[in-house]
Amino acid sequence: MITNPWFETVAEAQRRAKRRLPNMVYGALVAGSERGSTLHDNTRAFAELGFAPRVVGHHAERRLSTTVLGMESAFPVLISPTGVQGVHPDGEVAVARAAANRGVVMGLSSFASKPVEEVTAANPDTAFQLYWSGSRETMVQRMERARTAGCKALIVTLDWSFSHGRDWGSPTIPEQVDWKTMLKLAPDVLPHPGWLWKFARTGRLPDLTTPNLRSPGGAAPTFFGAYGEWMQTAPPTWEDVGWLVKEWGGPFLLKGSPGSTTPSVPSTPASPPCRSPTTAGTTSTPPRRPSGSCPPSPRPSATTSKCCSTVAYGAAATSPRRSRSAPTR
Ligand SMILES: Cc1cc2nc3c(=O)[nH]c(=O)nc-3n(C[C@H](O)[C@H](O)[C@H](O)COP(=O)(O)O)c2cc1C
Repeated sequence: MITNPWFETVAEAQRRAKRRLPNMVYGALVAGSERGSTLHDNTRAFAELGFAPRVVGHHAERRLSTTVLGMESAFPVLISPTGVQGVHPDGEVAVARAAANRGVVMGLSSFASKPVEEVTAANPDTAFQLYWSGSRETMVQRMERARTAGCKALIVTLDWSFSHGRDWGSPTIPEQVDWKTMLKLAPDVLPHPGWLWKFARTGRLPDLTTPNLRSPGGAAPTFFGAYGEWMQTAPPTWEDVGWLVKEWGGPFLLKGSPGSTTPSVPSTPASPPCRSPTTAGTTSTPPRRPSGSCPPSPRPSATTSKCCSTVAYGAAATSPRRSRSAPTR
């Protein structure tokens, strides 16, 4: 089939990714876990959303622009933070550049393959995503680094369950990519010379480290090293989340379904929380309720919303509070 060179739709982008990437890499991106229920629920719920066409009485000027977490956005979409963008040598920097080009906000995963400084240089409208991982001191250091790099909002992801199985089988992800690993993966990689060539041209092997989680003076942990720290950190209470809100002191978005619990977090909200139809459940197990099935609620409050998948605090707040501890880089 002959297709346009540009990505006509997401489905077309996915078809091309499948052709271009080694199976292992593609498998790691498509994700989902266990039975894939959340992935399917979300996809189904999203498909239920539609536009009611207005055939007469259009506005002469059509404008999709809005603000997201206090940042201007050309249309109401932001790049959801995703790790594993090291599958391309330019990784998150390329995505940030594309987002800047289209005037939308970049969400940068703390498991990203590129340093936050390079990403904010490509797109100054960047929100940094943090997991509740490591000590409070470590988290402050990560937030301060993001703030110093120019990140304008903080996204804290809470809906993760550490389930590793997939009914369709999990791809092998190496701890690090060295020549020995490359040799082992050769049968999967060699049939995809286009992908291989992108890395060959840089003279570097794919990097599976997490530079934004580097402690001052230390080396960047590997993806699995970072994952291990996160797994071993006791999950946060709402009090902990409140501490994060205060510590960041600027636009803050809680990513993940609060489910039936009632957050009493926001001691510094500057605007009502907002809702988003996506959750990190695509890569983890439920929140079971499809977010698209939330009943409409004009202005949900942080203490009463029960089915929002994402809650934002202080979206209208001014710039993040200045650093108390020394910036680390
Ligand atoms: C491969 C992959 C990696 C992801 N990594 C992260 C991450 O590091 N941090 C995070 O908050 N969410 C992560 N997510 C979740 C996405 O940000 C997003 O919330 C989820 O995929 C649902 O959106 P979608 O339906 O558009 O895929 C990841 C998702 C995928 C598929």
